[in-house]
Amino acid sequence: MRIRNKHRKSSAFHCNAGSRWSYLAIWSLTGFILIVYFYAHIHQNDKQDILVHLNHLVDTREMEKVEREEFHFSPPKDRRSPRAVKRKGPRKPSTIIREFLDASSQVHSFFFPSKKTAISLIKEGNDSMHFYPGRLWLDTDGNPIQAHGGGLLYDDNTETYYWYGENKDGRTYHAHQKSAARVDIIGVNCYSSKDLWTWTNEGIVLPGEETNVSHDLHKFNVLERPKVIYNGKTDKYVMWMHIDDVNYTKASVGVAVSDSARGPFTYLYSMRPHSCDSRDMTIFKDDNGEAYIIYSSNDNSELHVGPLTDDYLNVAGFMRRILVGRHREAPTLFKHQGIYYMITSGCSGWAPNKALAHAAESIMGPWETMGSPCVGGNRVLRSTTFFAQGTFVLPLRGLPGTFIFMADRWNPSELKDSRYVWLPLTIGGLADEPLDYNFGFPHWPKVSIYWHRRWRLPEGWRNEER
Ligand SMILES: *[C@@H]1O[C@H](CO)[C@@H](O)[C@H](O)[C@H]1NC(C)=O
Ligand SMILES: *[C@@H]1O[C@H](CO)[C@@H](O)[C@H](O)[C@H]1NC(C)=O
Ligand SMILES: *[C@@H]1O[C@H](CO)[C@@H](O)[C@H](O)[C@H]1NC(C)=O
Repeated sequence: MRIRNKHRKSSAFHCNAGSRWSYLAIWSLTGFILIVYFYAHIHQNDKQDILVHLNHLVDTREMEKVEREEFHFSPPKDRRSPRAVKRKGPRKPSTIIREFLDASSQVHSFFFPSKKTAISLIKEGNDSMHFYPGRLWLDTDGNPIQAHGGGLLYDDNTETYYWYGENKDGRTYHAHQKSAARVDIIGVNCYSSKDLWTWTNEGIVLPGEETNVSHDLHKFNVLERPKVIYNGKTDKYVMWMHIDDVNYTKASVGVAVSDSARGPFTYLYSMRPHSCDSRDMTIFKDDNGEAYIIYSSNDNSELHVGPLTDDYLNVAGFMRRILVGRHREAPTLFKHQGIYYMITSGCSGWAPNKALAHAAESIMGPWETMGSPCVGGNRVLRSTTFFAQGTFVLPLRGLPGTFIFMADRWNPSELKDSRYVWLPLTIGGLADEPLDYNFGFPHWPKVSIYWHRRWRLPEGWRNEER
């Protein structure tokens, strides 16, 4: 059974228990409100939509091209002896996701191409400034970028982009027989760039702890999904991250702070926000300087959203439960024309699954689910979010309504070899999948993530004035 969101859209009619209105009156009024609402909505957005669309036509035509992808893999060889086959019958058909996770398979090497194809600024040729989702990506020293589960910060002070993420450049192992693959905490890496393609390693800005076993960042613990925002009031850079123990029972968030975007960050503490368990998380800084935390809670069955204090170092007192019972994780938040958007993944460990887009008028909800944002490729690519899991969405300042969707293609057999999948994301046009409810009227613009084997940012992506 599909569990419906408890928090309904406010345009839906609120019945009160003592109402004596007949059903007829209720339905007439509901219909009337919907018509007025729909009409007003369409007109309010007309002008801005046309402008945005004109810009899109000129600048983002390439990014919004729907690119089909076909791949054919021969079925995996049955390595068992003929006698074993006879005894146990033919092997169950292996799903492509199982193949993808199997380091010895052809499918795996297709999605984790070798270093020969790495994206590198040292290489000759016409690939400069092009993104190749899934290929190894080298920094200015020629080393693979280690910034997994990461996020970007545009620093106005230095007019530079900073990419923070997990350094997973260690041994992949299983702490217990049944636990997921892991790498010990090394720390949070930082890379800097002016063009989003050429990345310089700024080093580890928050190191793991080698010896003190009671420290949150002790190497046998878990540090995931670091995100940094700048606080204009205190002139500090504040990092939030998922902190856990090896068995994922601590389920907390950690906070660190720095005077510079390039670190070093001082680790402050961890906590359970609003006294709730918290695993995948992100933070979001709104236009008005208010910041929020969004985290998976109640054993990943729902998300919680709540404001941070003015200094961004703690949660303010209250939160709202959203997408209750939906089991979503890896939230990424972004905003366009006053509407909040979110991409989430399902909960399937390191295995990829289908992303969903959500939208809301208020960041505190109610949030509506709009369906999968993935466009192009093929059915398998779309149903696995291009074999990746979202981690951040970066607005392109020169192209309103256009973003970069950043995702991780996890490689649980060798986590340090996990890849980055960056793709263009646009907001615009009518949704083509019906909403989960709301009488089937999709009234948010569509969120689209376009598959490309190779793409680049269009001219004008960084212009301030548009
Ligand atoms: C760029 O190089 C690739 C091979 O690396 C080639 O397939 C492609 O056609 C080239 N594109 C242009 C515009 O020269
Ligand atoms: C170890 O870490 C804990 C928690 O951060 C701290 O209270 C303690 O002082 C540290 N011990 C040493 C010897 O640094
Ligand atoms: C994690 O779980 C294992 C097996 O259940 C247990 O032996 C170990 O002590 C636990 N470790 C922590 C840090 O909780």
